[in-house]
Amino acid sequence: MILQIRKNGDAILKKVAKPVGRIDKRIQRLLDDMAETMYAADGVGLAAPQVGHSLRIFIVDIGQGLQEYINPEFVEMSGTVVDREGCLSVPDFTGDVARAARVVVRALDRYGKSFTVTASGLLARALQHENDHLEGVLFIERASALYDV
Ligand code: NI
Repeated sequence: MILQIRKNGDAILKKVAKPVGRIDKRIQRLLDDMAETMYAADGVGLAAPQVGHSLRIFIVDIGQGLQEYINPEFVEMSGTVVDREGCLSVPDFTGDVARAARVVVRALDRYGKSFTVTASGLLARALQHENDHLEGVLFIERASALYDV
């Protein structure tokens, strides 16, 4: 099911999301709906608060397949790189944002199993952007320059 994407100004985008407790069918359904919603909108990432669920879940697909993250934690961050970002919740702007160049993220998958991903480049950027949504932060608050779309 395609979910409604909340836009900048919606209060849920400013909230700190809650950790997922039990990973059950309801959470797996939410992950499925988030993927359908992200692909329909042509996005490379989507966080649960963007579709109205204040939970620590996000998904990304930078063209290497779908990745699902539940209760993600950044265990390492290094380097800095500035690049352009956009967001499905901020359709009117892109912006230049400084992010860590390399990250290591630990999270749970849809079966509750822990996994670790080491990322650089666009994937590292997408993971940090999506994790910001779980902290109630939009990229426009971090951007050094904004551009009209
Ligand atoms: Ni976003």
